[in-house]
Amino acid sequence: MNPQPSPQSPAPGVVRFYSFLPQGDRLSEDVLAGLALPQKSIPPKYFYDEQGCRLFEAICELPEYYLTRTETAILRGNIAEIAQFVGPEAQLIEFGSGVQAKTRILIQALQTQLYVPIDIARILIQALQTQLYVPIDIAMDTLRASSNELSRRFPFLNIVGICADHTRPIVLPEFVGVPIRRKTVFFPGSTIGNFTPAEALVFLRQARKMAGAGGVLLIGVDLKKDKVTLDAAYSDPKGVTAQFNLNLLHRINRELAGDFQVKRFRHKAFYDPILGRIEMHLESQYSQFAHVAGRRFDFAPGETIHTEISCKYSIAEFQELGKRAGFTPEKIWTDPEQLFSVHGMVAS
Ligand SMILES: C[S@@+](CC[C@H](N)C(=O)[O-])C[C@H]1O[C@@H](n2cnc3c(N)ncnc32)[C@H](O)[C@@H]1O
Repeated sequence: MNPQPSPQSPAPGVVRFYSFLPQGDRLSEDVLAGLALPQKSIPPKYFYDEQGCRLFEAICELPEYYLTRTETAILRGNIAEIAQFVGPEAQLIEFGSGVQAKTRILIQALQTQLYVPIDIARILIQALQTQLYVPIDIAMDTLRASSNELSRRFPFLNIVGICADHTRPIVLPEFVGVPIRRKTVFFPGSTIGNFTPAEALVFLRQARKMAGAGGVLLIGVDLKKDKVTLDAAYSDPKGVTAQFNLNLLHRINRELAGDFQVKRFRHKAFYDPILGRIEMHLESQYSQFAHVAGRRFDFAPGETIHTEISCKYSIAEFQELGKRAGFTPEKIWTDPEQLFSVHGMVAS
């Protein structure tokens, strides 16, 4: 599949997919470059092979991982107001769509708000046929499976799945034949936290451009809180997060002819209150070496590969970031314990 910047006409019930991923092996390039740095590091986007996506789903079920259930409860609890804020005939563009669980809540609500007018059937059919959902994710298999499943649930929805890396510029095609009143960029899951604040600003500027003037940003952002809660969320006693982190080494062994002895590394995650972020690492337990694509990398005992950050924000800090990217913060939805926030912003 090639990038398709030309106008596209989607069709309800037919899921179309496009890959905007660059040709060539970026995994190999990025891993070799990252392991050659003084602080070895691998970008978190490489967590999400098939096994990584499965493990992330399992993380979302963990009692310690409050993020998913809290964000879901916020969306469910405020859905009427959120649907009103987004409005009808929205083109919904979702970054890092994953299994699209939260999308279902939103699409269901955007659908039900259309039951209000008198001629229900006409309005419903018209409205569903004109709604357009564009999920964007780097994990092609998950993108395909969840988009097909969503299409079965909402057969009148137009779905165009884009396999792309959202750390790079993405130019979406224009969609023709679908009336769109407003573009809405949806970015749940606090995936924005995987960027440093400077990178988040670049991403938000891209989202602003994509939404266009008057478009909406609906974004889930994890809030700053006590270290005990945060440390527990990223180091569960069952070891699911450890498996997720260590799967990166298994992936390198599988895909890049690596020979990491995975058992000789351990998962390490901690909240740094000064930087306001979780850091996740893979720590070498011994003096050892591993080969990747024919190159040797040495590890001292205690040396780490940095695999992820998850930045936490106060509501005010994130609103400030949104403003700098060209959005006007209009709505904020949160839970009673102020664990998580969903921001509604309008592109100014
Ligand atoms: C933390 S999960 C969130 C999933 C889902 N949105 C949720 O709220 O539960 C991150 C998702 O973003 C995708 N992802 C991570 N980095 C990405 C990148 N650079 N470009 C595109 N998708 C990415 C992953 O494949 C995964 O589905």
